[in-house]
Amino acid sequence: MPGDVERGRQKLEWARAHMPVLEGIRHRFESERPFRGLVVSMVLHLEAKTAALALAVRAGGAEVHLAAGNPLSTDDDAVAALRTEGIDAHAVKGESVADYRAGIAAMRDADPHVIIDDGADLVALVHSDPKGVSRLRGSTEETTTGVTRLRALEKEGKLRFPAIDVNDAEMKHLFDNRYGTGQSTIDGISTATNLLIAGKVAVVAGYGWCGRGVAARLKGMGADVIVTEIDPVRALEARMDGFRVMPMLDAARQADLIVTVTGNTGVVRADHFRVIKNGCVLANSGHFDVEVSRADLEGMSVAHRTVRPNVTQYDLPDGRRVYLLGEGRLINLAAGQGHPVEIMDLSFSLQALSAEHIAKHGPTMGHRVHPVPREIDVAVARAALAPFGVSIDEPTDTQRRYAESWNLGT
Ligand code: ADE
Repeated sequence: MPGDVERGRQKLEWARAHMPVLEGIRHRFESERPFRGLVVSMVLHLEAKTAALALAVRAGGAEVHLAAGNPLSTDDDAVAALRTEGIDAHAVKGESVADYRAGIAAMRDADPHVIIDDGADLVALVHSDPKGVSRLRGSTEETTTGVTRLRALEKEGKLRFPAIDVNDAEMKHLFDNRYGTGQSTIDGISTATNLLIAGKVAVVAGYGWCGRGVAARLKGMGADVIVTEIDPVRALEARMDGFRVMPMLDAARQADLIVTVTGNTGVVRADHFRVIKNGCVLANSGHFDVEVSRADLEGMSVAHRTVRPNVTQYDLPDGRRVYLLGEGRLINLAAGQGHPVEIMDLSFSLQALSAEHIAKHGPTMGHRVHPVPREIDVAVARAALAPFGVSIDEPTDTQRRYAESWNLGT
């Protein structure tokens, strides 16, 4: 069903009203026009907050092209509203994988100067094409999975342009990955299932920043939370944060809910489906739909059917049932509304400022993965504190000199 322009405008208005940091950047972009004459291609989860980013970059003078970062994460209303603003948007919720890939190809074909990516799909496509793109100054990357892919290219000496790792900026992962994924994952699970969290045994696979957020929020809502990990340091952190830690084979036997947030593949697979508790709900909040093995589930089950929007019931031969949410795609966007608006205000402000940095300095930056410049991280933090009415101490001259003498910065 095509999106509704009026509903899309309302969603966009609501998002912009709660994205003060990005709106401040948009105002500056309007007067400074840092993207004048440049083409910016974005592959992002295309919903109202993303539309606010697209409009901010366009206000900076860019010709903006947008494609979906996932076949299920699109808000068709937001797309309809963006198209009326004259922005080229390739995304339909529930589109086929072929259409999704065609959207990303269209982003390459726009011959961008700057890429804004989430998951490095566009960067990967550009690297798989021997011609590449002719005038690319660089890219910015939103997510852990994308940065992992960029670092692999960098390590092999194959990265063809500078890329800014937005994910590892403090103002990104400490907030988006932790509080954003924490809240929006539960939003997606609750919307899909309408089931209670309190009293459930909930297994969180992966204790990175996203896993921490999901585990903390599930615990706060009264779940008995188990964490699974393959990294001993993170496993110990989870234990000291008060969670039970055990292998998935043991956890699956007790789980009412399993949430995967590892960035890895086959985290819940045939071995686990053989012992999994009857009625277990399976949700993924990692970037790709490879964490819960749908192939194993389909191979082992005697039947499957959709029992609610975004809920597929799989019947195992011995009568046990499991429920897979959102086809194993990231549940916070497949069934939920994505991260809360204030969180995307931070992440997309970093994206906008990092894209501006690439537009200005990309041609002289090395073909490496670069951190977000510290001054951008700090500027976003300062701007984000203002709406909370929080002010902080400024270091005295003595403190500044003391810190500098230890090379600690301020
Ligand atoms: N909304 C737009 N992009 C998003 C992302 N990467 N994660 C969650 N919500 C989003």
